[in-house]
Amino acid sequence: MSHRDDTLEAVRRSVAEVAAPRAALRAAMQALAERHAHYEWVGIYVLRGDELDLEAFVGQATEHVAIPVGKGVCGTAVARRANQLVTDVRDLDNYIACSESVRSEIVVLIWHQGEIVGQIDADCDAVGAFDAGDEALLSRVAEILGPVVAGLL
Ligand code: SME
Repeated sequence: MSHRDDTLEAVRRSVAEVAAPRAALRAAMQALAERHAHYEWVGIYVLRGDELDLEAFVGQATEHVAIPVGKGVCGTAVARRANQLVTDVRDLDNYIACSESVRSEIVVLIWHQGEIVGQIDADCDAVGAFDAGDEALLSRVAEILGPVVAGLL
């Protein structure tokens, strides 16, 4: 089994075996972080109205538990309806720092029945840690988690 398939299998197991939705999302983030060292912080924000609410994460606690649409990399992804791949956050004006040491970030939207219901956000202290392969992997993870996130709205 490839590394990627193993990750997806672990995420599917999290959803199948953990009954409480928030705990299932946390288990899925743990499955990602354990298998991919560059996901130093990885979490799920759920979109409620014009706000993204942090529901589950692995890594350092952040004070940014509610992010308005349009603000930061997370809010930009929703406003533009597009995943965000940031090589170096120091190049951005519209950035919310969860930790001063973070350099690169990826945000992949979670869709359910044609609507954005949330997003997966990952941070890394290295510049350029994320690429199209991460976007592809996280997009598959987002498909698996879509119904769980929709259940939290
Ligand atoms: N950096 C994000 C905020 C979320 S933290 O990375 C966990 C942003 O600019 O929206």
